[in-house]
Amino acid sequence: MSEVQLSEAEIAVHWREEEYYSPAPRFIGQANASDPSIFERFSEQNFPECFKEYADLLSWDKYWHTTLDTSHPPFWKWFVGGRLNASYNCVDRHLVKNRNKAAFIWVPEPESEETKAITYQELYKRVNEFAALLRDFCGLKQGDRVTFHLPMVPELPISMLACARLGVVHSEVFGGFSGAACGERIVDSGSHVLITIDGYYRNGELLDHKAKADEAIATAQKQGAEVDKVLVWRRLPGTYSSKTPMVPGRDFHVDEVLSDHRGRVVEPISMPAEAPLFLMYTSGTTAQPKGCQHSTGGYLAYVAGTSKYYQDIHPEDTYWCFADIGWITGHSYIVYGPLALGTTSVMYEGVPTYPDAGRPWRIAERLGVNIFHTAPTTIRMLRKLGPDEPKKYDYHFKHMTTVGEPIEPDVWRWYYQVVGKGEAAIVDTWWQTENGGFLGSTLPALQAMKPGSCGPGVLGIYPAIYDEQGSVVPAGSGRAGNICIRNPWPGIFQTIWGQPERYVQIYYEKYCTDKGSTDWRDWPYFAGDGAVQAADGYFRILGRVDDVINVAGHRLGTKELESASITVEEVAEAAAVPVIDDVRGRAVEIYVALKPGYTPAREIEDKVAAAIDTLIGKIARPKHVWIVPDMPKTRSGKIMRRVIAGISNFTGTGDITTLANPEVVETIRHHVQTEKVERGDVPRELSEQELQEVKAFGHAE
Ligand code: WTA
Repeated sequence: MSEVQLSEAEIAVHWREEEYYSPAPRFIGQANASDPSIFERFSEQNFPECFKEYADLLSWDKYWHTTLDTSHPPFWKWFVGGRLNASYNCVDRHLVKNRNKAAFIWVPEPESEETKAITYQELYKRVNEFAALLRDFCGLKQGDRVTFHLPMVPELPISMLACARLGVVHSEVFGGFSGAACGERIVDSGSHVLITIDGYYRNGELLDHKAKADEAIATAQKQGAEVDKVLVWRRLPGTYSSKTPMVPGRDFHVDEVLSDHRGRVVEPISMPAEAPLFLMYTSGTTAQPKGCQHSTGGYLAYVAGTSKYYQDIHPEDTYWCFADIGWITGHSYIVYGPLALGTTSVMYEGVPTYPDAGRPWRIAERLGVNIFHTAPTTIRMLRKLGPDEPKKYDYHFKHMTTVGEPIEPDVWRWYYQVVGKGEAAIVDTWWQTENGGFLGSTLPALQAMKPGSCGPGVLGIYPAIYDEQGSVVPAGSGRAGNICIRNPWPGIFQTIWGQPERYVQIYYEKYCTDKGSTDWRDWPYFAGDGAVQAADGYFRILGRVDDVINVAGHRLGTKELESASITVEEVAEAAAVPVIDDVRGRAVEIYVALKPGYTPAREIEDKVAAAIDTLIGKIARPKHVWIVPDMPKTRSGKIMRRVIAGISNFTGTGDITTLANPEVVETIRHHVQTEKVERGDVPRELSEQELQEVKAFGHAE
């Protein structure tokens, strides 16, 4: 099979159709969306005005005059002319009715530490005081960027909402990323202020987090970027939980500076709907992460609307999205969506299985959580380590979400029957950092669930599957191809920060039929995922078609992993491939070829793993590093990742006759597979979907 024939669009995929599950009548009776007329309201002929329904969930200072401006495609503008403030919408406006209701309930990881409820009133006070500090002490103003490197502590949403109050653009870097990764994002976003914390708990250990700030600043400085101030929150009041010294004149303990801003009130700045609210970096085909820029009005309207209809959030619910705010899921569905609706959002600091696999269910029981939201990797881990734990706790979910990766039907059924006790409606929500909010899901009271499929496009989203030649694959044909969204929607990101041409090239160029057109119909959005649509209209997402590996729901770019690997002096070339992993979905394996004169050694493998830890973060740590005599290459010198992916997954190497060095393949296969057999690391038999993914890997090159 040649590379061209591997085109996913041509592969007809046949697998077993799964059974449907219907939501419980009790759920339907109380659901926010229980009248099927909603589909009509959001039908294509009512686009784009249908999204007024979402925007009307917000409090606007000034109404928009144009719902969707398509004059500079694909830079769509939503609710043009409108003005609002996101912090006001998530905090102030709830004071009238719900001043002393919990906005957040924060659960620290150590069970000996008390859970903390932060009321809307208290949140209001803390957000205002911190906004005053940012404005008057740091000199931040509308349009400036600020980088956060914060874990799951209440200070994270407080910092976000304080920035939003001032029109300052926040850029949160996932706390588990390395200092160097944070530094790169500081440089890219042009931030002069870094907000961090001294430490936090993870798996029973108080981690030194401030140390990463120093690495971040050093990385930024090397690239000529200056950070004026580092604001350091404290995890434990009254002490400093880091071994690294505070740098005088640069580092400040937030609580000390805050004492000058007690009781201050900062008027929320009325922002244009299309002003940027935040940046969220994500991985793609190149080594450099992309800063996805999200808007204020469109984004907030979209997350509020989808939180209401798809999460079925009512103000009286206790909603727990067990994700990290460092990812888009947390921004949209821990902070902005739930708070815009004035509900109580639960935040948990730590790992799911600390101190045991019953922890999430104890939290749910104790807090009376009735909506639960998490990722397949967490579900798989909890199933593996505590399959019977949920039974032991008296909690009842009306609704649950799975997000971030394809979920295996078998795992879905455990989630439904054991975690959800057969009572909860499940939504499998497919979307991306770039999208702001859900793209594919069932509407929980109105559309039956089907394990392993996300469902149809959500309200106001019209997806289609395209083949490599640019034709639409007939709807419902079960043929695989690239899933695209035919229309713009309010939650779509506005651009890649500082790189508008890449934004156009990556997401729109592939299927744009007329670059001169200002009609949105000519600009389908290319999501970078393979998918099939069944006859019932439900989509099944097959995974990335570009060089992204989804590890435990986290997007890692193969190029990023490879560039980190070749910083090791002995390494000449590196290739990253995914291996199927029963808990994390996918894990990373790195193949490296050494420079002449070096001999393979365990230390080199360790150095590669350490380089990835330092430059990206522990989440990216490879499962194995394989030192090989040479990489399998095409005659034009390209590394054939699909060949080594086949070796790592024991799925065969495919046709290798066109390679420049086919003989090396057998050497590598023998070495890697013998070693894996010895280590007891032979994968189970793969599903049809997994096989296709391995075969297609590296196809984007
Ligand atoms: C994958 C996370 C299958 C997909 C919100 C997408 C999914 C990437 C699902 C985006 C799902 C996300 N079923 N696959 N329900 N949700 N994905 O940017 O490959 O971290 O392109 O956004 O995760 O990951 P990101």
